[in-house]
Amino acid sequence: MPLTTTGGLVAEAAAHRGAVAAFNVITLEHIEAVVAAAEAVGAPVVLQVSENAVKFRTGRLHPIAAAAVSAAHASAVPVALHLDHVKDEALLREAADCGFSSVMFDAAHLPYRENVAATRRAADWAHANGLWLEAELGEVGGKDGRGPLDAHAPGARTEPGEARRFVEETGADALAVAVGSSHAMTSRDAVLDHALLAALHDRLQVPMVLHGSSGVPDDELRRAVLGGISKVNIGTALSIAMTGAIRAHLDADPEGVDPRRYLAAGRRAVTEAVVQLLGTVAAVPAR
Ligand code: G3H
Ligand code: ZN
Repeated sequence: MPLTTTGGLVAEAAAHRGAVAAFNVITLEHIEAVVAAAEAVGAPVVLQVSENAVKFRTGRLHPIAAAAVSAAHASAVPVALHLDHVKDEALLREAADCGFSSVMFDAAHLPYRENVAATRRAADWAHANGLWLEAELGEVGGKDGRGPLDAHAPGARTEPGEARRFVEETGADALAVAVGSSHAMTSRDAVLDHALLAALHDRLQVPMVLHGSSGVPDDELRRAVLGGISKVNIGTALSIAMTGAIRAHLDADPEGVDPRRYLAAGRRAVTEAVVQLLGTVAAVPAR
């Protein structure tokens, strides 16, 4: 199947008050596992590569992107590629040549005006190059001169009026909002602010993205999708599954040396985790 676009998948999901799940991939095993799970469920999926994952891949975007493109072409379900949490404008400019249809530009750590200026620049470049741009708005810095809270720090909240202004000023195609999830949680007990989500949904003219979704329990994820979240970003849940399975495998076979054995166990566990998550995110019934 040809590579599809994140913007197309999100628009289609949003039209039915559903969501597309976007999974962070770090290794070839992640890519294989996510695509296998999407095929098993029959749901489209976004493979996303973060700037941190590119750093891990020795700073080179092309090899992992090429693997993802190849897996997408071989897939029985639509697959899109998204470059995630980009702060480096040089990396942003590599996206268009590597098969990505979308980028999340992350300037939420900057004071509001600087976030707007940097995101506007990124959106202008993205649109000129046929890419869909996701942006992020965290919390305005306190009056005591502190910088803004990272949008997915615990306690950060996106203010609806400011969110609307931010989208108008930047031209972003989608907005990552801070409504109670936070990155890299290893327990699933985040409680979302559904009243705030409803207010954001009323004010915003673009789709909303939930980050840090690994820490959000299934019922909260379902409510978030029904409340207007159209893209659900998930990373840590895959790391928990992969690392747990590899650890168990090596504990049970301390003499084993063939990486295919434990990587296969890790890949299987990621597939199972993604099947479950797609069952929640991609199966939310239309309201
Ligand atoms: O952009 C990626 C996601 O926000 C992943 O967050 O690792 O906490 O699931 P997570
Ligand atoms: Zn994120």
